[in-house]
Amino acid sequence: MEGNYYKEPLELKDFGSHCSLSEMDDFDLTRALEKPRQLKIERKRSFDERSMSELSTGYARHDSVLDMAHTPGSRSIVDTPLSYARNSFEPHPMVAEAWEALRRSMVFFRGQPVGTIAAYDHASEEVLNYDQVFVRDFVPSALAFLMNGEPDIVKNFLLKTLQLQGWEKRVDRFKLGEGVMPASFKVLHDPIRKTDTIVADFGESAIGRVAPVDSGFWWIILLRAYTKSTGDLTLSETPECQKGMRLILSLCLSEGFDTFPTLLCADGCSMVDRRMGVYGYPIEIQALFFMALRSALSMLKPDDEGREFIERIVKRLHALSFHMRNYFWLDFQQLNDIYRYKTEEYSHTAVNKFNVMPDSIPDWVFDFMPHRGGYFVGNVSPARMDFRWFSLGNCVSILSSLATPDQSMAIMDLLEHRWEELVGEMPLKICYPCIEGHEWRIVTGCDPKNTRWSYHNGGSWPVLLWTLTAACIKTGRPQIARRAIDLIESRLHRDCWPEYYDGKQGRYVGKQARKFQTWSIAGYLVAKMMLEDPSHIGMISLEEDKQMKPVIKRSASWTC
Ligand code: GLC
Repeated sequence: MEGNYYKEPLELKDFGSHCSLSEMDDFDLTRALEKPRQLKIERKRSFDERSMSELSTGYARHDSVLDMAHTPGSRSIVDTPLSYARNSFEPHPMVAEAWEALRRSMVFFRGQPVGTIAAYDHASEEVLNYDQVFVRDFVPSALAFLMNGEPDIVKNFLLKTLQLQGWEKRVDRFKLGEGVMPASFKVLHDPIRKTDTIVADFGESAIGRVAPVDSGFWWIILLRAYTKSTGDLTLSETPECQKGMRLILSLCLSEGFDTFPTLLCADGCSMVDRRMGVYGYPIEIQALFFMALRSALSMLKPDDEGREFIERIVKRLHALSFHMRNYFWLDFQQLNDIYRYKTEEYSHTAVNKFNVMPDSIPDWVFDFMPHRGGYFVGNVSPARMDFRWFSLGNCVSILSSLATPDQSMAIMDLLEHRWEELVGEMPLKICYPCIEGHEWRIVTGCDPKNTRWSYHNGGSWPVLLWTLTAACIKTGRPQIARRAIDLIESRLHRDCWPEYYDGKQGRYVGKQARKFQTWSIAGYLVAKMMLEDPSHIGMISLEEDKQMKPVIKRSASWTC
């Protein structure tokens, strides 16, 4: 029945209160794979939906615990992490601190929580826009709240940003597309009049006037996560949410002069929101685009207005996955093929379709590429392949199943092989390698914030831990995530939750990093909760197709 769902209570005693985490992982996954349960959210139209949620119902939450979570005021900061109560693990002391810090970052609009600010850093002289609720930054906060059985703030956020989407948006005299979602918003409290108002930024105030292309995609992905986690279909089925999705989709499914199914973007359009040479077809956006399309497909109603979008999405997904899996994929064999490419080939028979010059392959990539392993490169367009490795795009490719199961395994293999370079002392590099010298001058426009191994230029971002952990769980390699979490736990709290770290190994707190950066805090909590209860991954992961059995292969890294 719509809006109603059945949850099978979790038999806590089955686990035994003393079994180790790895035993429990083994037990959970085996059980989940053997006994797919009735799905809590039945949907007729979706093409993804099944497997991960079936997997998740294998360890569905205990109803009484969940009920408790919905009782207003029933929880204090100390007892916040429900998962610990459930599983009787000794929580790491950082967890309670993290919840406290996350709650401190909550933003209220007329008494209702609507988001979390980017950073709660009183020591920093320059606030800039770190006191705002960023759409992309709120995602890990939202997941933490959902995993902890607190969906209200997520629902309020989704509705508030949907309202903002309806605003008329301009940069100078130029009117922006109707579907554009804000990069961030701020709540202004007037203590005298006792009123709250909102100001939003769609790029018209942002440094460099950059376009938040990822915001709309994250919004759709979050709407699905909310729906998956709560079983509440009433939100995504409202005419307002349906329209919001269609408006976002109209922006990226419109016909133009494109010869590729990937989405053409300017620099600064996503997490890397400054000039960093990611213009063109950046992997982060393509992976989020793919995931948002699949998420929307599972939520759009096939009514008069929705049907056309569903058809367009299906066609686009087909073309997009083909393009990405073939042309963005790089492994040892593919690198060798590109190295031997002929150029200037004309016609359909061309092997080197984009006319990539082998001389443009950077030296580092020959050493970096292991025999086993691979990744989606940063960008592909005519005569231009950006060989840099970007972590978010690759992790989202795994989560969305843009990567085939083999490719997902290869991405994890590469990560293990290149642990020193990609993880070092602080998970996780935003991209690898950095650019320096003349190249840095040309590519970044001499950006002093993006110097080598800093910030977006090869800096290490703790927030990326949650995407890494989710990818590890999906590929059946939680041990990799555990190693990364151990590194985080040795420093993050001591360093006051910085936004990013600098250096080749990620050893130094970032030059201009904010402290108490909310997504560093929330990312840690999400990673911890997912590892403890892998069923959470269902809200942020999509299986390849509904026929496909969940691919959870054991690898050498599974056992500890
Ligand atoms: C920086 C980051 C961006 C983030 C914002 C708020 O601008 O580059 O990704 O959303 O800070 O934390």
